[in-house]
Amino acid sequence: MKHLIPEFEALKTRLPPGLDSILVLPCLRRIQDDRGYIADEDIDGLVEYLGVPRIQIEEVLTFYTMLRRKPLGRWHVQVCRNVSCSMRGAEPLIKHLSNRLGVKPGETTADGRFTLSTVECLGSCGTAPVVMVNERYHELQDAQSLDALLEELK
Ligand code: FES
Repeated sequence: MKHLIPEFEALKTRLPPGLDSILVLPCLRRIQDDRGYIADEDIDGLVEYLGVPRIQIEEVLTFYTMLRRKPLGRWHVQVCRNVSCSMRGAEPLIKHLSNRLGVKPGETTADGRFTLSTVECLGSCGTAPVVMVNERYHELQDAQSLDALLEELK
């Protein structure tokens, strides 16, 4: 994380003095972009650098599902399980993916290829059920379309 301090310092120049705690979220996002996830040592580094309590960083980490504490597989399969997607079959899709990949939500396959996650609304309720793989949306999904999608992912 230390090599990112110059970038964090540049962010600080945009803020009034004394508001460094606002930087928790942008710093975490930048760390994740750099490392792929947020490690314990990153949290320790931010506590020291920003002078914020560890709990404040943990709160941000547990609130935002896009922030990760572990490395992901090559393909991050995120299934929305909020109201619209649930009403249109998200739970059976999660079970299907879990069986097919051999992992539960939150786990990564042994070969490191897939991480399965569940998320709250992906903002595409009109095309539910929605699955996001890395940065791409796959809408109106069913078991067959997901099987085809998984076959495409190398
Ligand atoms: S409920 Fe799934 S995209 Fe909104």
